[in-house]
Amino acid sequence: MIINKLKLTNYRNYDNLDINLNEKLNIIIGKNAQGKTNILESIYVLALTKSYMSVNDKNLVKFGCNYSIIEGEVKYHDYLKKFKIKISDTGKHVLINDKDIKKMSDYISNLKVIIFSSENIHMLKEGPGVRRKFLNMEISQLSLKYVKILMDYNNIIKQKNEYLKLNNINMDYLSILNNKIAQLSVEIFLFRKDFIESINKILSDIFFEIMGIDGLKIKYISNIDFYDNKEIMIDKCIEKLNRYNEKESLYKISLIGPHRDDFIFVLNDKNVSLHCSQGQLRSIVLSLKLAEVQLFSNKTGESPILLLDDIFSELDSEKKNNLIRYIKDNVQIIITTTDINMIDEKLVKKASVFIINNGKIFPGK
Ligand SMILES: Nc1ncnc2c1ncn2[C@@H]1O[C@H](COP(=O)(O)OP(=O)(O)OP(=O)(O)O)[C@@H](O)[C@H]1O
Ligand SMILES: [Mg+2]
Repeated sequence: MIINKLKLTNYRNYDNLDINLNEKLNIIIGKNAQGKTNILESIYVLALTKSYMSVNDKNLVKFGCNYSIIEGEVKYHDYLKKFKIKISDTGKHVLINDKDIKKMSDYISNLKVIIFSSENIHMLKEGPGVRRKFLNMEISQLSLKYVKILMDYNNIIKQKNEYLKLNNINMDYLSILNNKIAQLSVEIFLFRKDFIESINKILSDIFFEIMGIDGLKIKYISNIDFYDNKEIMIDKCIEKLNRYNEKESLYKISLIGPHRDDFIFVLNDKNVSLHCSQGQLRSIVLSLKLAEVQLFSNKTGESPILLLDDIFSELDSEKKNNLIRYIKDNVQIIITTTDINMIDEKLVKKASVFIINNGKIFPGK
């Protein structure tokens, strides 16, 4: 899919922005703090209704304004769709082809984007919550069913946590909640396992092409136990949840379930976040994103839009060339950089170039 047009009103440091994008490569150049990342972020928000950064929606609205609008026109194989999202004090409204969409779950997963930014590197260093958010955002783009299951799961875990805060806990009531939690937990587990296994089929090859190192994998860590049979898995999960009833009542919080999941990257069985260099970590996350582009294309038949925020800094020229070879012609890419000289001349020739200066955009060539 291709985003042809992007329009911003009162978004971050933009009063108004109106651009037509190239269906292959777009390069956004600008000095620091001019608004390059903000453009990529706005496309992400248009797709997923929230930022990939841990910020409140009101931070997306331009200082001093009370609403913000992002609009985009997206081309699929044989049709166009217009997306619009309005963020204000009263909440968020989303529209497709000018029609109000009531449920966010009907909106998300129409427009698919993969973003690589320095924020993603934190994914390797921070707590598991960041990695779970990543899994949820990505799988949500691939499956509407996952969005719904996750919403149900979050609601019931919230309900259970509120109940655990009370003084007189009825174990039978907890067991009733656990039955429902087990079913949803297993569904979520299987979605995540499938996503990670699919990524693993391509990740190692991509990392090898860029870095020349073999053996990169993601390892899924969950307190749900896997069995080949789904019914058995659910039964075992119920047993486990019930075994924790006492402990959970004591700690007043639910301890078992995919809301405690995590994953790590391993390079030849070693956890990368413990021993890899900064440049290597960057390339690991970048390889993950490129693997996702392939996975999304395979699963949905449409390639996602690839947003690359400042990818070329911190990569030496050999790795940069390896990466450029990897960038496929059939994916729309939007790259930001502070220095056009960081990007191969041949690529620049093919691209639309934009210059950003203090929230204003100018044609770059
Ligand atoms: N809600 C907001 N209202 C107005 N300005 C904002 C808002 N949020 C962020 N900004 C401004 O946007 C600018 C940062 O934009 P952005 O992160 O896109 O910069 P950048 O061009 O990517 O810079 P760098 O090269 O350093 O990554 C800052 O000047 C910041 O003050
Ligand atoms: Mg930036």
